[in-house]
Parts: sequence; structure tokens; C-alpha cells
Amino acid sequence: MTEVASVLYGREEIRRRVEELGRTIAGDYVGREPVFVTILKGGAMFLADLIRAVDLPCEVHFMAISRYGDAAESMGRVRILLDLDIDLSGRDVILVEDIVDTGLTSRYLLSVLRARGPASLEMCALLDKSARRIVPLAPRYAGFDCPDRFVIGYGLDHRERYRNIPAIVQVDDVEVLDRDPDSLLPLLSDPFAA
Ligand code: IMP
Ligand code: MG
Repeated sequence: MTEVASVLYGREEIRRRVEELGRTIAGDYVGREPVFVTILKGGAMFLADLIRAVDLPCEVHFMAISRYGDAAESMGRVRILLDLDIDLSGRDVILVEDIVDTGLTSRYLLSVLRARGPASLEMCALLDKSARRIVPLAPRYAGFDCPDRFVIGYGLDHRERYRNIPAIVQVDDVEVLDRDPDSLLPLLSDPFAA
């Protein structure tokens, strides 16, 4: 595609996998009404596709966080910029994340949610970059086991851009992208990434 980036998961592959995840979740939660809690902004696109494959009554809520430096520096502690406006006690909560990398952010968020007394708490991540895990954490539901590469597209950003690439694209040379953040703009109209 380019020397800097290549498609890791195409649009159709993502669609199929997300539908499978949705059906699995629906099967596991029959008779219950799950509460999906999604972390803005990366998880929003995944959530939108995921819940349309869940044929159960469910709720969708959002949180927004900001990091203090990178995950390792902050040990995953984040500032909550937007909090939930519902009571989680007794509810079946599923934390939806775009990607679990070191696991520090998710571990922190899970502890915040657990403290609110849900009946159950599970995690669903589209991408599991398990090779980078610092803390033991395995999402109950994971779309793809992602290689240890920087990825963009389908909600994932580089400096807030590229979330609108329909595919998930692996950046083979992050230095080039850091030096010239515009270098992958041609992907937005590249049929291989669409
Ligand atoms: P963790 O605390 O290291 O697991 O960080 C998870 C967060 O880092 C994700 O929610 C993303 O916002 C971000 N992140 C980690 N890897 C990538 C990537 O390859 N592309 C884009 N964002 C990433
Ligand atoms: Mg994120």
C-alpha cells in the first residue's frame, strides 16, 4: 500500500469478526440487559458496530479520559473527563475498548467500575496487543490478537487523526509518521484501506 503502512485487518474482516463478537456476547447475556461502557473516542466506532450485532435489550454509556503522559509513566491512572450518569450497582457491565496495549489503562478503569458494585464486569476489546502487556489482564472478549505494531484506523488515531480509515492499518515506520503526520493522508482515499 505504502512503504510506511499496510492493511492489517480489512473492512470485511473487521465486519465479520465484530458480528461474531456481538453474537457471542448476546449468547452469553441471554435474559440479562448488558450495559456497554465505552471509552471515547477510539472505542466509539467499534461499539456502534458491535451493539448492532447484539440482539438483546442493552444500554450504551460513554466515558472520556485523559492520560497523564503515556500509560507506563502514569501507571494507567487517568483523569476522568466525562463520567457515567447511571448507577452501575447490580448491572451487568461490559467495558468496551478499542485496544488493550500495556493493559494499565484498562486495569485502572476496571477498578473504577468495579468499585461501583456491578453484578458482573467483563471487558471487550477489538484489538488485544497481548505481547505488550505489563499487567496480567485478558479481555473476556477480544476481536483480534494484534501484533506489536502501531495501528490506526477504525477509531484508532495518530494525534487525533486517521480514525476514519475503514480498515485497521499497521504503521510499519512510525518515525516517518511522527516526522510527517500528513504522510498517510493518501490512505483516506486508498481503495485498499477502504
Ligand atoms: P494501555 O494502557 O497501554 O493498554 O493503552 C491503551 C490505549 O493506548 C488505547 O486505548 C489507545 O488509546 C492507545 N493505543 C495503544 N496502542 C495503540 C495503537 O497501536 N494505535 C493507537 N492507539 C493506541
Ligand atoms: Mg483509547
